[in-house]
Amino acid sequence: MKNLNRRHWLKTSLFGLAGLSAIPEVLAHSNTSLDSKVLKSTGSLREIPLPFNADVPMKARLLANENPFGPSEKALKAIASSISEGNRYGHADAHYLIQMIAEKEGVSPEHIMLGPGSTDLLEKTAIALCRHGGNVISADPSYLSLVNTAQAVGASWKAIPLTEDHSHDLNAILKSIDKETKLIYVCNPNNPMGSITDFENVKSFCKNASQQTPVFVDEAYLDFLENAEEKSAVNLVAEGYDVIVARTFSKIHGMAGLRIGYIVATPERIKSVTDMVRSTMGLSITSLKGAIASFKDESFIAECRQLNRESRDFTSQSIKSLGYQEIPSHTSFMIFPIRSEAKPFARSMIDQGVGIRMYAIDNKPWCRVSMGTMQEMNYFVEALKVSEA
Ligand SMILES: Cc1ncc(COP(=O)(O)O)c(C=O)c1O
Repeated sequence: MKNLNRRHWLKTSLFGLAGLSAIPEVLAHSNTSLDSKVLKSTGSLREIPLPFNADVPMKARLLANENPFGPSEKALKAIASSISEGNRYGHADAHYLIQMIAEKEGVSPEHIMLGPGSTDLLEKTAIALCRHGGNVISADPSYLSLVNTAQAVGASWKAIPLTEDHSHDLNAILKSIDKETKLIYVCNPNNPMGSITDFENVKSFCKNASQQTPVFVDEAYLDFLENAEEKSAVNLVAEGYDVIVARTFSKIHGMAGLRIGYIVATPERIKSVTDMVRSTMGLSITSLKGAIASFKDESFIAECRQLNRESRDFTSQSIKSLGYQEIPSHTSFMIFPIRSEAKPFARSMIDQGVGIRMYAIDNKPWCRVSMGTMQEMNYFVEALKVSEA
């Protein structure tokens, strides 16, 4: 009764605000947050909060898709020697990094926007494009930063279920575009599933869909694949398509805590975001120097890719031998359904010093584990044996 009243109150009070054609569509989803001020759907995906055990030190931190091998030695040196420049703004370094990125991606500096992590750019793009309502389309399950912000500023979400093989249903996404669509979000490879959608299909889709609405392609994990450049949608930007490609220094560069990411888009599209918020003011000089050094350090990137593959192969074989069936991963994490209940499972893992992430997908419990060092993956496998013995 209490909940019903609250739901009724939220519905009626929110209907009085702008952009509320969104509400019935949002409520139709299975996991809708009624606790936040803004009504947000998370589709078929719900994060299960982890227990906390202050008495057990974490020996394997496998919960946030961080790179255990970073930052590179060269980045560390650059960061250390830039600390004394901390009294200055990093404008010149930002300019230099933008030049480097532009050169690598085959575009002009006007095609690049930097941010403190790609989350910042996902959110700013969502605000810039969705603040007058309308709808955003993405796969479900997928990464929710952009979709959450879009919903928070008044857009509704059209959640398109993944196909049987866990790739984006590009035809269904295309069909669901309507005159209210402000943005499409494609996460490739996808988080939390670890799966990919055929890269050539994504490119054809982008060419087609971007005639009607901007397409945002999040490539946070692309660098873990061989020949990543060929797979990226970034060339479409140079060809003038209204495609926004996001990359980050948080994953293969191992700089998650240093916060640098960028988007590549047409100068007009970048301007539609920077008219509202500034590109480089959120960046520290230390992070910029670290990113510049890491960007040049190709052997470090290749080594991380190799080490990630080794951890992934080991983890895949180990969990299969325990009878689990993971979704084949193309990333620095892996997800698989567990057999017992989520909360006792998570408690057991945490009590053994192994941090993982738990999700309910269509109300069934799944464990997502990030790739760590071999030693960490061994701890993970041993803890898993105990947790679902
Ligand atoms: C798909 C995807 N995009 C973007 C991000 C954001 O990363 P950051 O803000 O650290 O660049 C993450 C982080 O886990 C992610 O998984």
